[in-house]
Amino acid sequence: RQPPVIAPSILSANFARLGAEVDAVLAAGAQWIHFDVMDNHYVPNLTIGPLVLKSLRPLTAAPIDVHLMVKPVDAMIEAFADAGADLISFHPEASEHVDRSLQLIRSRGVKAGLVLNPATPLSVLDHTLDQLDLVLVMAVNPGFGGQAFIPGALGKLTRIRALIDASGRDVRLEVDGGVKVDNIAAIAAAGADTFVAGSAIFGAGDYGAIIAAMTAQIAV
Ligand code: DX5
Ligand code: ZN
Repeated sequence: RQPPVIAPSILSANFARLGAEVDAVLAAGAQWIHFDVMDNHYVPNLTIGPLVLKSLRPLTAAPIDVHLMVKPVDAMIEAFADAGADLISFHPEASEHVDRSLQLIRSRGVKAGLVLNPATPLSVLDHTLDQLDLVLVMAVNPGFGGQAFIPGALGKLTRIRALIDASGRDVRLEVDGGVKVDNIAAIAAAGADTFVAGSAIFGAGDYGAIIAAMTAQIAV
């Protein structure tokens, strides 16, 4: 198993000083930056595009984990690869040709992930797992920060962890939505190794203290 990663979602950051927020969470111990892209079409909200990634990119060598909540996906894959994404994940429902979209990501030297919504069946992994660097399990319906963790995600994580282990490949299992200090231990026990947290981290006064508290819960 790869070492755990805490990936603050900048969706809950103060966008008026985004660069400073990114610097602050990385200095506070986060390993990745989770970058939520919403298009008011696939999800009912609108966030940030590749120009913002391009501006952030020179600030850090830390991996930037782009979560595309857009439809269609292929043009945005190209734009975010050009802007310097390290990982790009998309929702299979948003691509007409999932295999083609995965190939597009990997052809650009970017790590590829598929995102499973709360009601997405595991069968989307049947013919894709061997092309994935990451599986992202949504524990909320995508579109907004600050929603409550849907408990059914735990069983889903356990089942996907078994699939990944059986594959023998290094595939990260990431969880997104409602991750807090008081549930992260159970989420880790279910098999996740990569933890997105937006409101829990950016809503805390002390980023170092909240990231340390989360890390302590998953280190056991
Ligand atoms: C939701 C986004 C999440 C969101 C998580 O659609 O994909 O990354 O920012 O926020 P919290 O941690 O507040 O649930
Ligand atoms: Zn996300």
